[in-house]
Amino acid sequence: MSSVESSFAFFAALRETSFVQTVLTKSPTEAAEFIKRGGIVAFPTETVYGLGANIFDEKAIAKIFTAKQRPNDNPLIAHVGDAEQIELLTAEITGSARKFIEAFFPAPLTLVLPKAARVPMIATANLETIGVRMPKNSVAREFLRACETPLVAPSANLSGRPSPTTWQAVFEDLNGRIDCILKGERTEIGLESTVVDCTSEKPFILRAGAIGLEELQKIVPETWIYNVKENEMARSPGLKHRHYAPRAKVVLIGEGEMRNADSSAFIGLRKPEIEFDLVKVCASVEEYAHELFAFFRDCDRKNIETIYCQTVVENGIGLALMDRLKRASEK
Ligand code: TXA
Ligand code: MG
Repeated sequence: MSSVESSFAFFAALRETSFVQTVLTKSPTEAAEFIKRGGIVAFPTETVYGLGANIFDEKAIAKIFTAKQRPNDNPLIAHVGDAEQIELLTAEITGSARKFIEAFFPAPLTLVLPKAARVPMIATANLETIGVRMPKNSVAREFLRACETPLVAPSANLSGRPSPTTWQAVFEDLNGRIDCILKGERTEIGLESTVVDCTSEKPFILRAGAIGLEELQKIVPETWIYNVKENEMARSPGLKHRHYAPRAKVVLIGEGEMRNADSSAFIGLRKPEIEFDLVKVCASVEEYAHELFAFFRDCDRKNIETIYCQTVVENGIGLALMDRLKRASEK
């Protein structure tokens, strides 16, 4: 290694380990001050907590990749406080996107569109497209308005870990690595937004989420689901990375296949007939989605070795839930 390379590596390592004082606040305006000064701030949305930076501040965006240890080929989603800002970030709002915006925004829905030149390439990991979402959560909206700029915001977890559904989960992963956590309630939905590519004639789902295929098809009937596994080149780079996984081993089970082992847990819709160290029985698929990531983190804190997760029917939010369960079980 040359001396230039080694000093570069040294400063990169220093950045990786340097401690930042993380301020906790309930005030969206106080949190927005950190964004205005080039900082990074975790904030609640209706899906999961996000980690925001000013979309026009390349240095601040770089801090997000470092704090999360995120692979730099994984693009970030732009978050806007009002619909007019979408024009600022995109080169074109396609016909299908216009229909989805009108029908759903603000919503747990991200639309991928051709990007405007003014959006820095680091935000989109060198893609010519940008994912845009207008969150519904009132604290998120107040915070975005106070920032006076669109933000980029991935989920506020360390890369590969389950997305955070509480501010405490953000704290667990990112305390000392980010400038501020805007404390809000536990997130309503608990799984990330539906990502829909609207750049081609027929829009397609890149990531299942709270807004189901059936709902999208009511607005644009040609909408379809892109299957990454069947396609060699992943259209959405983030999908090829390991995701949503607790440290414990995740095993998917249909009905009648339950087993228990040492230090195991169960989550599903029906009370298991055998005993587990930790059990979560959910009254609906919505509640299962809402509880899943927090349950994963709970299991890790209690050193559970195996988590048995009951499978669900893949429609509505069940499609997104099964997507996250399958990914978590791929280790
Ligand atoms: O609900 C959500 O979407 C949360 C909250 C904070 O808004 N955000 C979130 O961001 O889940 P993140 O970074 O964890 O996941 C973003 C996903 C990744 O799979 C990424 O590859 C995909 O969206 N994505 C972002 N921009 C894209 C683009 N231009 N083209 C294709 N996929 C894109
Ligand atoms: Mg994420």
